[in-house]
Amino acid sequence: MIYPVVVYGHPVLKKLAEEIPDNFPDLNQLIDDMFETMYNAEGIGLAAPQIGKSLRIFVIDGAPLADDEPDFADFKKVFINPKIIEKNGEVVSMNEGCLSIPNIREEVKRESFIRIQYYDENRKFNDESYEGYKARVILHEYDHLDGILFVEKISPLRKKLIKGKLNDIARGKFEADYKTIVYNPKRK
Ligand code: NI
Repeated sequence: MIYPVVVYGHPVLKKLAEEIPDNFPDLNQLIDDMFETMYNAEGIGLAAPQIGKSLRIFVIDGAPLADDEPDFADFKKVFINPKIIEKNGEVVSMNEGCLSIPNIREEVKRESFIRIQYYDENRKFNDESYEGYKARVILHEYDHLDGILFVEKISPLRKKLIKGKLNDIARGKFEADYKTIVYNPKRK
């Protein structure tokens, strides 16, 4: 099932998401739906809050970027109840976008090395390290679980400059090629 994507201005994107319990029903279905929703919107990552579910899970499939990033070809993963236990390395600035913030891309500074512990789609525990662009994609999605959007990490000047565009998104004044949920389209 393809979910509509929740956009900027919706409170679910600001919430601290809840851990997924062991007995969570239909987890496999949720994972399938998240991938389907992400592919439909042509994203490379999607976190549960973006489909209105305040849960600690995100999916990534970097395959669309494989032409430029060869090691993204098989970078397809599910991260359940992830914990970033180490974050360091050079802080690098790079352009980012987000399905919940249509048509806005900004430079975001992030650490280039992480160590993350998580459960995968088979409920198997993993302890892995990532660097570079992979680490960036993971950090972006992980932030969603803590209610953080990339536009909160940009320079104060850029933030000022895009404020109008963000307010437009919150009011439903934007174009997207996928279905979206606007929290309160009538807000002035
Ligand atoms: Ni995002």
